[in-house]
Parts: sequence; C-alpha cells; structure tokens
Amino acid sequence: IKTMQLLNQSQVSEFILVGLTSFKDIEFLLFALFSIIYLVTVLGNLLIILTVFLTPNLNTPMYFLLGNLSFVDMSLASFATPKMIVNLIKHRKTISFLGCFTQIFLLHLLGATETVLLVSMAFDRYVAICKPLHYMTIMNKKLCILLVVMSWCSGLLHVGLQLPFAINLPFCGPNVVDSIFCDLPLVSKLACTDTYFVQVVIVANSGMISMSCFLILLISYTLILTTIRRSSSIGQSKARSTLTAHITVVIIFFGPCIFIYVWPFNNHSVDKFLAVFYTIITPILNPLIYTLRNKEMKTAMRKLWRALVHSNEDS
Ligand SMILES: *[C@@H]1O[C@H](CO)[C@@H](O)[C@H](O)[C@H]1NC(C)=O
Repeated sequence: IKTMQLLNQSQVSEFILVGLTSFKDIEFLLFALFSIIYLVTVLGNLLIILTVFLTPNLNTPMYFLLGNLSFVDMSLASFATPKMIVNLIKHRKTISFLGCFTQIFLLHLLGATETVLLVSMAFDRYVAICKPLHYMTIMNKKLCILLVVMSWCSGLLHVGLQLPFAINLPFCGPNVVDSIFCDLPLVSKLACTDTYFVQVVIVANSGMISMSCFLILLISYTLILTTIRRSSSIGQSKARSTLTAHITVVIIFFGPCIFIYVWPFNNHSVDKFLAVFYTIITPILNPLIYTLRNKEMKTAMRKLWRALVHSNEDS
C-alpha cells in the first residue's frame, strides 16, 4: 500500500473547477452577464486611471490612491474571471496544476494589496477630515508613494508566508474544486495528507489579516463620521458621499473574505457565491461609484472627452 501511495503521489496534473451551477441555461445567462460585467470593470477602471493621470486637478493624494486601487481592481477582476467565463460554456471545466496555483498566488497578492490600499485610503480620509490643516504636509508625495509600495510589499509578504505550505502538499486523489477559481481552503482540502496545519496557517494569516483590517477600517470610519457630525462645514456633504463610497467598498470586500478565511474548516457551499463578491463585484464598484456619483471625476472625464473630440476635429 505504501508503494501504491508513492506511485499515486502528485498524479493530479489538473483540477476541475465546478463553477456556480450545472444548469446549461443558467450557465449561458451567467456567461453573458459576467462578460458584460468584466468588460465594464476593465474599461471603467482604465478610464479612472487615465483620467487621474491626465487631469492636473486630480493630482491629489486621494485620487493618486484611487488610481492605484483601480489598477489593483482591474487585476483582481482579471486573474480568474476570464477563465471562469470561458469555463461556463466549456464542457470540460479544467485548469492546470500550475494555473491553479497561479490563481491562488495572484488572488492573495492582489487581495492583500487591495486590503492595505483600502486602509491607506481610510487613513487619507482620516487626515483630510480630522486634521485638515495638516493634510498637505502629512499626505505628501513621498508618503503616498510609500503607501502604494508598502501595500504591494505586504501583498508579497502575505503570499510568501502562506503559499509555500500549500504548494508542497501531495495531490493524488480527487481533483474537483467546488468553486469558480482555485483558492487555498478548497484546494488544500484535496491534498491526500493531513492538512490541519495548512488550514491553521490560512486562518492565522488570511483570516487574521482580513478580520483585523476590517476592524481597523470600521473604527477609523466611525471616528471620521463622528468628526463630521460634530463640525458642520460646507464640505460636509461631499465628504460624506466619498465616505459612503469607501464604506460600501469595504463592507462588500471584507464581509465575504472574513466568512471564507476565518472558518475555512467547514467549507460551505455558499463560499463560491461569496467569492463572486470580492472578485467580480468589488472591482466594478470603483468605476460605478466614481464615474456615476463623483462630481469632480465626472467633470474631469467630460473635459477629457471634449479635448479628445476637439483634437479629432482639428486633425
Ligand atoms: C500608483 O502608484 C505609482 C507608484 O507609487 C505611481 O507612480 C502611479 O502614478 C500611481 N497611479 C495612479 C493612477 O495614480
């Protein structure tokens, strides 16, 4: 039996991604829906990045961070969704071993980067609203760049502390992942060895990070909101709408994350529906919120559009 086990080890060369449903009609519907959402997400985030780059008015810390968040969002939308969309209309929904672990790597790299960026943006709002007189000195260019660099480094650190434990697991048995992309809790459960330790690592790393960042964000936004309520300045309603936007993103991003990583032991079948929130819904929120509801952004985009039309007429 020992030799049999050794022979069978690492036999798995590909995984099967079950997806959300097995009903053909619903799959076609989801194919259309997710394709449109994906297209809007990529174009919308690109538009935000371009607008921030090309508009001198938006050369502020908030938009600097927002531009970077859009970039992370675009990547977060792209690491697994195209594959998932293609799989929706394919009969054999497979992903290679390497592809599977690449998805895990990117998900955790981008997820952790997004987390730290969201905390940075909360900090930016905290300084802007609670320490308005020192805003420009505190949030200088150097700090902004440092925050972005730090968020990417945290992302790398987060993956580095987690993935090595999973990649060495032996996979010999079942290879069906009951989700729309590969993620650690589900994939490590497929290993033909005791994965208790890996699961503990997942809770200690992903679970703790999402939980503590969520608490930090909740506390800072509560502080900011109470500050706004006490002072009644002119910029209040504008500040409040920006805050509402941030808080919406935070809740939709972290709610499902916490649910999935704090209790990875008993994977529920709802997990894969929750995964939709932080890979498909969160990335489209920025474009929706900032292009439809933010006046500064809308004005900037209109100006860019006009400039573009004019330059076409001239040439
Ligand atoms: C994002 O951050 C990088 C590095 O700090 C910076 O060079 C870039 O301009 C930022 N992107 C946007 C769209 O603001």
